[in-house]
Amino acid sequence: MRNKIVAGNWKMNKDLTGTEALLEELSAKLPDTNAKVMVSPTFVNLANAVQKLKDSKIEVIAQNMHFAENGAYTGEISANMLLNIGINTVIIGHSERRAYFGETDEILSKKVKAALANNMQVMFCFGEELEDRKSGNHFNLVESQLKNALFDLDLAAWPNIILAYEPVWAIGTGETASPEQAQEMHAFIRKTIAEAFDTDIAENVSILYGGSVKPGNAEEIFSKPDVDGGLIGGASLVADDFIAIVKAI
Ligand code: 13P
Repeated sequence: MRNKIVAGNWKMNKDLTGTEALLEELSAKLPDTNAKVMVSPTFVNLANAVQKLKDSKIEVIAQNMHFAENGAYTGEISANMLLNIGINTVIIGHSERRAYFGETDEILSKKVKAALANNMQVMFCFGEELEDRKSGNHFNLVESQLKNALFDLDLAAWPNIILAYEPVWAIGTGETASPEQAQEMHAFIRKTIAEAFDTDIAENVSILYGGSVKPGNAEEIFSKPDVDGGLIGGASLVADDFIAIVKAI
């Protein structure tokens, strides 16, 4: 059974005071929902966020991690460090990590494996650039991103994978993929996974859409059969907007 999920990627926003204030407001306003609701504050505020949400249904997740268990990797964070403070889910492969921090498919494959080896759940992000879509290469590109990072996993790994399709041209631009474009790509992703693994895996994996999801467009995007929720950037920083998006699912 795939889950409905609404996750907020706070990126490099909100200091400790801002994090606490937003978490308090979100907890107070969270509606009764069957969907999983997740937030990912920045690393330095994760432990605090876990404490703050210990009686809440909102899960705290991390934005990134390193693939090594420990060692001389200045500035990096390991899976065990996350687990140790109560974080069980990590976002891997965000386009900003790929674009600004040189994360290649090869690095991402290692990160995915390291997270899974530590029994963590992975929210794997991928998506095409505008040029890929304009040239009609978007399906090939997405297929290769999935293949390079995920297709050598065991079947048993898949219950711990969440996919987040985030077309780069729709991130932070206010321009969202149309519900039809999102559905078309999500159906393609499911078909690609069915071919590489099996139909059960493909039917059971949650596929989120990310890229300028707002209260005004969430319901229509979420109504598509292969869209299981959203990974929300800007709108996740405003409690009322994020809550409205949770209600939309
Ligand atoms: P926006 O919702 O701000 O477009 O960001 C999407 C995103 O990158 C979530 O990871």
